Amino acid sequence: MSKMIDIIVDGKTYNVEEDSLLIDLLIKEKIKVPYFCYHESLGADGNCRMCMVEIEGQKRPQIACDTFVKEGMEVRSKTPNIAKVRRDILELELINHPVDCPVCDQAGECSLQIFYMQHGLHDTEVTIPEKVKHEKHLDLGSNVILDQERCVLCARCTRFTDKITHTHELGIVGRGDDSKVSTMPGRKLDNPYAMNVVDLCPVGALTSKDFRFSQRVWFLKVSNSICHGCAKGCNLYIDHNKIKYKDDVVYRFRPRRNDAVNGFFICDEGRLSYKELEENRQEIIVLKNQELSEDKAIKEFKSKVDKYKGNTTIIVDANLYTEEIEAILEFAKEIDAQVISPLGIYKDEDFGDDMLKSSMRAANYKTIQRLNIAESTSIQSDLIINFNHPSEIHASEKISFLTHKNKDLELTFPIASYSESSGHLTNEDGITQACERTVFKNTPIPTIQEWIQKVRT
Ligand code: SF4
Ligand code: SF4
Ligand code: FES
Repeated sequence: MSKMIDIIVDGKTYNVEEDSLLIDLLIKEKIKVPYFCYHESLGADGNCRMCMVEIEGQKRPQIACDTFVKEGMEVRSKTPNIAKVRRDILELELINHPVDCPVCDQAGECSLQIFYMQHGLHDTEVTIPEKVKHEKHLDLGSNVILDQERCVLCARCTRFTDKITHTHELGIVGRGDDSKVSTMPGRKLDNPYAMNVVDLCPVGALTSKDFRFSQRVWFLKVSNSICHGCAKGCNLYIDHNKIKYKDDVVYRFRPRRNDAVNGFFICDEGRLSYKELEENRQEIIVLKNQELSEDKAIKEFKSKVDKYKGNTTIIVDANLYTEEIEAILEFAKEIDAQVISPLGIYKDEDFGDDMLKSSMRAANYKTIQRLNIAESTSIQSDLIINFNHPSEIHASEKISFLTHKNKDLELTFPIASYSESSGHLTNEDGITQACERTVFKNTPIPTIQEWIQKVRT
């Protein structure tokens, strides 16, 4: 471990690792310092000059993102001189920035807007009548739209494609006023993690084609969840909104930082999988394709289960929460059923890579293995009860509990999706993580535990 040293910031002493970056301390201690180009995943670039602080013994203000802390260093972040430096740099940033916040999709989560309100609030001395014009709606590929005029040239997006995905699709071309972000000649932004540039962009220059203009961000509620796209278990924010009298709707997934799992990022496929939460949902109880009342369905369920006691197999999806799987195991004991979860169906070698994406597309298969649930695919029983497993199953009698419609015409109960319930998942590295309940529908669909309780009584 590195040596710990003391430094002083704004008169207060902090104990910090020697030679760590000053900006990391300021961020950690929530000492307000504006910055565009620094990002903990990308390191320092030193191009925006917003993170200036005074350091005792240095003639001019220094950038905190490229300053390593030293024993006894004395830093000042709130002097009138620093306030003026920040105002002046913001004025420079805004010379050519369009004043289109009211129609900008980033409004409400834009660093430039926030810094202007915290550090700018200046009357401009720049009297150039015409701002420099660039492209406003450039489709870069991969669902990302670029507004070149709003760009502050922080190079986070270009560094992401250079340092993180190593795909090098983006660069900054031109000189002076003509500098702009662009794709390299003949290229499109087309790597499987491309949409992370939208989160990295501190302003409204890069926006998601999928999300833009669908909601003003201040209306969104944020919940913590885990992606169910594969066994990696990337941490997510689920942004959703329930307008009065209407149903709760999920509008986007965003990455939630977890250094032990996904760092700062998620893959595009996982990010866009929020759409599956709403599409093609099983919402009613059906029997042979006809809607059935809950009372009749429960009666039907019980009579089948009684008839096939000791001759029943329960098949479990490896994406269910641990709590759901445990409730099913307990119920299986009560009705003398064997429980299986064939895992082969979740293998997808084309999907996996060496960054985040796992070729095992089952968010909780580790729990299936830990609980010694058989992976067998051969089913001898006459009654099958399927808890959302994607296999096509053939048996003389079948009951399904499904989040989404499939071809089943037998007795089928709708169940809550992972965003409509809460629970835990263990990812492929053995890390157990919690998911909050996010969505509260006007007519909630019962969870697996609720159904089990109903059919028991
Ligand atoms: S597009 Fe956004 S992330 Fe890229 S350089 Fe411009 S401001 Fe930075
Ligand atoms: S890598 Fe897997 S868990 Fe992570 S966002 Fe993509 S699909 Fe979801
Ligand atoms: S954050 Fe330090 S120069 Fe940009």
